Amino acid sequence: MSASATTSRGNWNSKLGFVLAAAGSAVGLGNIWRFPTEAASNGGGAFLLIYLICCFLIGFPVMMAEISIGRKTGKNPVGAFKALSSNKIYPLIGMWGVLCGIFILSFYTVVAGWTFSYVFEEVFFAAGMIDWASWVADTSNGWLNAIFSIAFMCCTISIIRGGVSDGIEKATKTLMPLLFGILFLLIIYVVMQPGSSEGLAVYLQPDFSKIDMPLIFAAMGQAFFSLSLGMGALITYGSYLSRDENVPQAAALVTFTDTMVAFLAGLLIIPAMYLAQANGIAIFENGEFIAGTDLIFQVLPSLFHGIGGVLGAIVGITFFVLLSMAALTSTISLLEVPVSYAIDEHQIPRKKAALFVGGGILLISLIISFDTSLIGTLDFIFSQVGLPLGGILICLFLGYAWKTEKAFDELERGNPNFRQTMIGKTWRVFVMVICPLVILYNLLSNFW
Ligand code: PHE
Repeated sequence: MSASATTSRGNWNSKLGFVLAAAGSAVGLGNIWRFPTEAASNGGGAFLLIYLICCFLIGFPVMMAEISIGRKTGKNPVGAFKALSSNKIYPLIGMWGVLCGIFILSFYTVVAGWTFSYVFEEVFFAAGMIDWASWVADTSNGWLNAIFSIAFMCCTISIIRGGVSDGIEKATKTLMPLLFGILFLLIIYVVMQPGSSEGLAVYLQPDFSKIDMPLIFAAMGQAFFSLSLGMGALITYGSYLSRDENVPQAAALVTFTDTMVAFLAGLLIIPAMYLAQANGIAIFENGEFIAGTDLIFQVLPSLFHGIGGVLGAIVGITFFVLLSMAALTSTISLLEVPVSYAIDEHQIPRKKAALFVGGGILLISLIISFDTSLIGTLDFIFSQVGLPLGGILICLFLGYAWKTEKAFDELERGNPNFRQTMIGKTWRVFVMVICPLVILYNLLSNFW
């Protein structure tokens, strides 16, 4: 695939543009909604520890694999496998990715809709117009869920219609630093509250006796979900990356940023859960954490209302606006996968593809809006199992069909002699042996 062909599909304007867009894809509800809930249900600090190991030892090598496949071919996940091998079986890996993207986006849109609805909750609460307890109950209100899902999907579609650098890149550049800023301020506030130390201890002092196979399974699924791996989102984003960028460095930056945001979110939300409990919100039952998909949406407003007054309102509104934006930069990457597939493989123009693919996925979101218990099931099949499975297949394809030597040729374009470096040598072993084995063992042991 020539560089000019890559350019005509769209390109990032700068390396920072790619890193921010990929980090924008990675940082989202996975960090702030899914990570703290998973960590709290799986023993806090022990989960954090295993999660960090999964991100850097498993996630980072898979991320490099995905970006290098994308940049080499300049294609969507299905086209990329077609371009690298004549064997007809491999594009199925890309197809699986497209399918995961479709279903993850369908429930993600509903949760993102909740986030967006809480911007209004904060405004109405500040104006004294609602009793927020009734709003919390409304995460089970199908019509409200449907309205906010539609609103969210419309925003996603309109950005995807705008294309790569104008749509995706512009949106992420300002939002990410703002999100970091507000997280910091909130952590300082929470940590200063009396009663937060219990939550901090649970999060930061790992209890090694809690490490078992279900915990490792959950941590691995979370790492793949949070880093947007295993479904070709980074193959797609890599396909818009210019030829001489340093892929290992970009992948390291994205992994680090995403992990940092998840860590900070845990530092905010786990202590905040204990504070919320002191305010009468049921978080634990008989010492066990009650893992509800909508728990975060009770804990956070309770925190903001605890700050009170104008300041509480400002912080609450800003937080939910930023979280909605973080979710938006993830939904655009989820939608970009099936859309780029429709554009490249079926020659459908971008604007039309965005509308039809996005509209189709919205129909699934509407069903989920009226039965939110589907979120757990879809999340299990397509994120917990689907993404690590995609990760194994991508590693095996790179290691044994495309071959690491060719991948190194690609990686060395922006990072000369990468194959001789320590990281390069280790990467080869991880992609070919360690990642597939560890992920496979983990998946299998959970089904037996
Ligand atoms: N990484 C995103 C998040 O943490 C979700 C996502 C998963 C996006 C897979 C793209 C692909 O919210």
